[in-house]
Amino acid sequence: MDQPHPSEPETIAALRDALRATPANIPLRLYIAEILRKKGDLREAEQTCREGLRLHSGHEKLKLGLAQCFYAQQRYREALVLIEDLPNNAGDANQRLLDLHIRLLALTDQREQARSLYDRAVVRYPSFSETDLPELFGWPAHTLPAPAAHSQDLMSSASGPLMVPRTYSEDSLDVYETDIDRPPIGFQDVGGLADLKEEIRMKIVFPIRHPEVYEAYGRKPGGAILLYGPPGCGKTHLARAAAGEIQAAFISIGINDVLDMWLGQSEKNLHDLFEQARIHRPCVLFIDEVDAIGASRRDQRLAGGRPLINQFLSELDGVDGDNEGILILAATNAPWHLDPAFRRPGRFDRMLFVAPPDEAARRETLEIHLKGKPVDEDSLRLDRLAAKTAGCSGADLKAIVDLAVERKLKSAIRSGKPEPISGRDLSRAARLVRPSTEEWFATARESAADANHGGIYDPVLRYLKRRSAQ
Ligand SMILES: Nc1ncnc2c1ncn2[C@@H]1O[C@H](COP(=O)(O)OP(=O)(O)OP(=O)(O)O)[C@@H](O)[C@H]1O
Ligand SMILES: [Mg+2]
Repeated sequence: MDQPHPSEPETIAALRDALRATPANIPLRLYIAEILRKKGDLREAEQTCREGLRLHSGHEKLKLGLAQCFYAQQRYREALVLIEDLPNNAGDANQRLLDLHIRLLALTDQREQARSLYDRAVVRYPSFSETDLPELFGWPAHTLPAPAAHSQDLMSSASGPLMVPRTYSEDSLDVYETDIDRPPIGFQDVGGLADLKEEIRMKIVFPIRHPEVYEAYGRKPGGAILLYGPPGCGKTHLARAAAGEIQAAFISIGINDVLDMWLGQSEKNLHDLFEQARIHRPCVLFIDEVDAIGASRRDQRLAGGRPLINQFLSELDGVDGDNEGILILAATNAPWHLDPAFRRPGRFDRMLFVAPPDEAARRETLEIHLKGKPVDEDSLRLDRLAAKTAGCSGADLKAIVDLAVERKLKSAIRSGKPEPISGRDLSRAARLVRPSTEEWFATARESAADANHGGIYDPVLRYLKRRSAQ
């Protein structure tokens, strides 16, 4: 497939036009700056970042972008000042930031600090040993964590706040960590979906609580489940709740975390994210829009293509590190686009349909979203509301509650008198929210029937049959 290379002049001109129209679009600005920088138009790249910083002063990724421009112009000290001025992390730019920081230290005569930081980087992100850093600075490619003497030097060095976090510990690189999400919710916050909760309990909750029983049967905690269904029905919510249920880390991968326009980088990004999960086990690794990464038939221009799929498969197979203690949950609205290789045993061996809530689940979901809010219990009549909201997703039900709350708030501000939410408020709000799941089934019906080899989409077809019988 022929795709114009992003560094072609027409492409850059088009991107710049787009940026002129939306100067506050930071991702676009960063993208353009990166293309210019890799193309060698360093002054222009620098200018693009500076303009951005004028609009959004102190923006971390723009600062990192500018530092990269300085680095490319061999203005190392200026770059280092910028880097060390960044707060403790810069979101998903962490590894790039870390890599640059190491280089800049080494290039500004702080080689020992650079080496120590590199040693710790290798422990946290093993792929660091495959960068050109060891060769460039004459370090061994695979090293153990730095000895204590190094870190002492590091702590007493005048290298700024990034190097000496308050909770500094020898093998810690927490300053570069993306914030690890530990969701404060559990299965009690998810309405319905009893079968899915059970499946997840069997794979990760029980094995962690009763390891001896699982060991006796030779089973290990972890596994992979593919969740699919219409938007807003709780795929992401359930995955977060699963992590909360075992008080574990929730690491989420989206296509944007993985895709990199420079060849080969996407595979590395994916590997690093799996490594993060391995470091934080037990944990839930959530892969959203998995069809975008593992698309079989769809336009693969956007997706990463075959090498990325292969990397993904070998991560799932545990070729590059074992996945014990990691529950891998992936979500998609279009499972039929996913490469069939993902469904082989040992990979996503379970594919579960996250259906719109039935009446009982709608009631439960409404209760969940009303929890802790002032309500007029007697007038609520949630049974009636649940009966009237067929076709609503969990997100639609949340929208109903949010709308009712908003209106109540407005009237409380006007009257100066707070009043509880009543059944009438909720039914009024419900009239304004359109059930949203219909649309998905309109296309899913055909795709599921076409791709129903071995009955894998029977749950969708059964659901449709039941619904049309009602
Ligand atoms: N079963 C449920 N119980 C309670 N709340 C729910 C449920 N399903 C959805 N919600 C609410 O709706 C919001 C959106 O749901 P969620 O993001 O999990 O949907 P999704 O299936 O991941 O959708 P998408 O396919 O668009 O990613 C949740 O944050 C939650 O507040
Ligand atoms: Mg989601």
